Amino acid sequence: MNVSIIGTGYVGLTTGAALAFLGHKVTCIDIDPKKVAALKRGECPIYEPELENILKSARDRLNFTTEYEPAISSSQVVFIAVGTPSQPDGQPDLSYLKSAAQAVGRNLGTGVTVIVNKSTVPIGSGNWVESIVRDAMREVKKEARFSVVSNPEFLREGSALSDMLYPDRIVVGSEDPAATKVMQDLYQPLLAQDFVEPKNLPRPKNRQQSPFVATDLQSAELIKYAANAFLALKISFINEVAELAEKVGANAGHIARGIGLDARIGERFLQAGIGWGGSCFAKDTSALISTAREYGLPMAITQAARDVNSRQRARVIEILLGELRILKGKKIGILGLAFKPFTDDLRDAPALEIASRLKERGAKVVGFDPIANAKVRQDWAEKGPIVTDDVAEVFNEADAVVLVTEWPEFTNADWSTLLPLMKNKLIIDGRSVLDRSKLVAAGARLITLGCSA
Ligand code: UGA
Repeated sequence: MNVSIIGTGYVGLTTGAALAFLGHKVTCIDIDPKKVAALKRGECPIYEPELENILKSARDRLNFTTEYEPAISSSQVVFIAVGTPSQPDGQPDLSYLKSAAQAVGRNLGTGVTVIVNKSTVPIGSGNWVESIVRDAMREVKKEARFSVVSNPEFLREGSALSDMLYPDRIVVGSEDPAATKVMQDLYQPLLAQDFVEPKNLPRPKNRQQSPFVATDLQSAELIKYAANAFLALKISFINEVAELAEKVGANAGHIARGIGLDARIGERFLQAGIGWGGSCFAKDTSALISTAREYGLPMAITQAARDVNSRQRARVIEILLGELRILKGKKIGILGLAFKPFTDDLRDAPALEIASRLKERGAKVVGFDPIANAKVRQDWAEKGPIVTDDVAEVFNEADAVVLVTEWPEFTNADWSTLLPLMKNKLIIDGRSVLDRSKLVAAGARLITLGCSA
């Protein structure tokens, strides 16, 4: 099929690369000429494992442009995958979505086009996009046939391509059965799981087929918010239990396994620690609460998940204060600056909030990340930590070091050479990933969030 994708962020680019890999002819449209020029040169503007390789392997079926024409008029399916950042009232900013929908309306071709809302959009946006497309068509005196469908994404940064190629499910919300059928055809190789897996992206065991969930528009839109809110609250739940575990002498890791093996609960997303960050959970839980407020509903559980999550970051400062008494003039090292491993994304990264709070209290903060250092230097020059490219500098003369992002570089670090560099060998493991016996043998005092030892 001929497919256009508007927006080349994580979602748009991953979707475009995967669809082209599966054999579709894809044009990615972005208003940023620098980004488009880089993509045309074969450079990937974001750090996402295997994305550059997939883009390369599918380059014959991939095109990048800043122009809506002729891509839109010749496409059977047009994805809108633009950003919807949070506004101060919690509602997403829909201005990019609006201008993309207007551009689609002005340029629709003579065939029937399926317009896909891939961006995370408030409930009711499908109808809203439809009316914008219609208005734009009217302005240019065009008559074209189209349907708007909602097809939420469930990609995790750092494993976006694997999530895209081997989805747990594909959700499509639509009021038009013919449009649902087009989406089913588009995704057929993913539903059947009959494509040859790309190098370095192996098919997970037991993944024979992916279910297709066809719903009405509103349900698909709400599925996206409900999925992210549920994952966020699962993490906050284990973090709440973890704090109690510390008090009663228990271990959150054992509890997660003990409850997670119950198939009704499931083991994933029960990793206790500093809590969630990133561009999605905070934005989507806030939007869900804000939408519910319009209907007079409090969404108490989602709100509680947010409250517990902010407390996790504050707890790191409390622990350091308890241990060091005074933070003024102390050197605190931070391991990991991106919001999670295998990405350089700094949006709502816990490490940066913790660093800026420590700086406000007069501490000297030095941080290191295997991938995100350059971005931190560029975007967080004032409020962020001093960034070093030498991990030993994080430890040198430090009064404490906090592991915030669980990169393998840190779990596999050579502690016997790093710990002796510290003034005070206090390590806070914010992700419960460090080997206690190894660190203690090397002389560390190790505090693990969620663990009483
Ligand atoms: C999340 C969802 O997992 C995706 O399904 C969704 O498509 C995406 O948001 C989105 O809406 O675009 P993402 O934010 O990329 O994906 O990353 P996650 O792997 O979900 O991690 C989010 C945060 O939770 C990270 O800070 C991570 O460190 C933290 N986390 C995750 C925990 O603290 N504990 C866990 O057990 C799991």
